[in-house]
Amino acid sequence: MNQNEMKQAVAKAALEEIRGKLEKDSIIGIGTGSTANFFIDELAKLKYDFEGAVASSEASAERLKAHGIRVLDLNSSGRLPFYIDGADEVNGRLQMIKGGGAALTREKIVAACSDVFICIADQSKKVDILGNFPLPVEVLPMARSHVGRELVKIGADPQWRQGVTTDNGNWIIDCYNFMLDDPIKLETMINNIAGVVCNGIFAHRQANILLLGSEQGVERLVYPA
Ligand code: A5P
Repeated sequence: MNQNEMKQAVAKAALEEIRGKLEKDSIIGIGTGSTANFFIDELAKLKYDFEGAVASSEASAERLKAHGIRVLDLNSSGRLPFYIDGADEVNGRLQMIKGGGAALTREKIVAACSDVFICIADQSKKVDILGNFPLPVEVLPMARSHVGRELVKIGADPQWRQGVTTDNGNWIIDCYNFMLDDPIKLETMINNIAGVVCNGIFAHRQANILLLGSEQGVERLVYPA
């Protein structure tokens, strides 16, 4: 299996994970990225079995609509039974780095409103310690330099992702050379820097289920086991 085949396999496994658990009025949360796109394409098969979806990005909303899946506003959706999304890195506690596609803030909001977070990823995303992937931080544009200086103080090598504006009109700083030895503590610490909108550590709200694609097939991990 190549990487795309692994992404497709975990997307299919996620569909099986939710099949039979949806009601006609269920609204589910949908993530962003290439693995989430495979899932959206699978989800189209069940589109008459649930009410609609809340998307974590404009791109995912467009893809859902193209399949004829209704896209709803989170403010009128209440709690969501499932949130399905990819990750840039995931550890054994199902904590993640997300935001490679710059959708971290909306992803974190939709995940916070969801009862079960199903992370879908190929084996390249599984790590022992988070941090090889540069940690994205969404900032208000006027705070870019200030946040960068504060990130240096806590040991990161921040770089502005030039040319990228998020769906919320903000900018992204990527933190290089920044191993996350205590993801929960660092998630809180970075959120406390003035001007930070959100950071890509998903440790306070980690995944509940990880569907991990490898040559051998799809492994299902749950934390705590
Ligand atoms: C989007 O901002 C990210 O959080 C994605 O979930 C993450 O980058 C995974 O994307 P891929 O599925 O394309 O690897």
